[in-house]
Amino acid sequence: MNRLLSVVSTILLAAFAFPAASAFSDCVPNDTELGPFNPPTFSSTVVNSTTFYSLLPPSPTPLPLLVFMHGSTGQWDFYNESLSFISTHGFAVVFPFVKSPSKDKSPFTTNTDGTYLLKAIQYAKEQNADPNSDMYKKIDVETVIIAGHSMGATCSINAATSYPSASAVVAMHPGICGPFGPPPCPSCWRSDDLAGVGLNMPVIFTTATNDGAFWPAPYTAKHELGCYLKAFGEDDDGEWEGEDSVFVQFNDEVCGEDGEREPVVKDGGHNCPMKNMEGGKPEMTLLLKAAKLYGHMEGDKESKCYGLIYGEEDVEGSLLQLNQTDVLEFRV
Ligand SMILES: *[C@@H]1O[C@H](CO)[C@@H](O)[C@H](O)[C@H]1NC(C)=O
Ligand SMILES: *[C@@H]1O[C@H](CO)[C@@H](O)[C@H](O)[C@H]1NC(C)=O
Ligand SMILES: *[C@@H]1O[C@H](CO)[C@@H](O)[C@H](O)[C@H]1NC(C)=O
Ligand SMILES: *[C@@H]1O[C@H](CO)[C@@H](O)[C@H](O)[C@H]1NC(C)=O
Repeated sequence: MNRLLSVVSTILLAAFAFPAASAFSDCVPNDTELGPFNPPTFSSTVVNSTTFYSLLPPSPTPLPLLVFMHGSTGQWDFYNESLSFISTHGFAVVFPFVKSPSKDKSPFTTNTDGTYLLKAIQYAKEQNADPNSDMYKKIDVETVIIAGHSMGATCSINAATSYPSASAVVAMHPGICGPFGPPPCPSCWRSDDLAGVGLNMPVIFTTATNDGAFWPAPYTAKHELGCYLKAFGEDDDGEWEGEDSVFVQFNDEVCGEDGEREPVVKDGGHNCPMKNMEGGKPEMTLLLKAAKLYGHMEGDKESKCYGLIYGEEDVEGSLLQLNQTDVLEFRV
């Protein structure tokens, strides 16, 4: 009995000696390798007529939740390799559909208000609480990263507005801010909403110089930057009171067309997040770094994850050092 007690207390001590964050490793500069949480199990479930795809890798402890919303006409196949890759680094991923995997391929299936990302969070919470679910007690539903691409990025900003306890939002190539958009409001997002989001959680906002989705390139990126500056101010005057935020405009070299997804879709410019080589460089690996920083490392400013995103030119592998961007704006 004594011996058992001592074994139990040793285990307890061991458990308390390391904070939960130590279950996860720090970022590495070239994060193109699969992570240790492998392989993720894919599942497709329909709840209340909404389809949710999910990836849950094996893990001894509950994993943070990443909800990711596709762009207009977006398909799981455009993102699945990168999301699977991110999942192996220690994330439960839930990917909602508006109508269904086949109907969402139509340009007439749209949603911009964040509803489906919020449903995805709700879905994960319900699965996590359901003893009959494979996801029972496997998801850390208090740690949620909200992300999306294009239409899904607009959704991510709007979902974050009504989910202030999220750990971060990663908006990749959202529509242009309202009221005029494109797309015009009410299908837009608003700079003052993003400013409010930025008080509650870190914001990672990406675009590319050769993004021609909403205005001919390079004006889409210029408008995106204008929206960011409208939300977070013209410069970091040292009085920043929000959470960390960054605007990343990748250059046309790193977001150039590589033909990898031809003939189904082009993966340059606006569709740079659809790149799937080397973990989805450069955008999906930035999503990984951000998800790890805020989902695994609690935003630790001493972490490599932090240095890779916000570090100076002398930090190996930092955004500033890599010269992959035309514009980088930080508020930290
Ligand atoms: C990063 O890792 C990939 C795969 O391991 C490799 O092909 C690539 O050359 C590496 N890049 C750098 C800059 O080290
Ligand atoms: C991604 O989807 C494609 C097409 O459905 C499939 O061939 C591939 O195995 C999937 N990859 C992963 C990592 O799920
Ligand atoms: C499904 O509908 C039920 C009943 O309205 C609701 O309690 C539940 O939260 C919904 N679940 C999801 C994932 O939408
Ligand atoms: C980035 O640009 C700077 C200044 O032009 C240069 O010193 C540095 O070597 C470049 N870094 C890379 C990784 O190309």
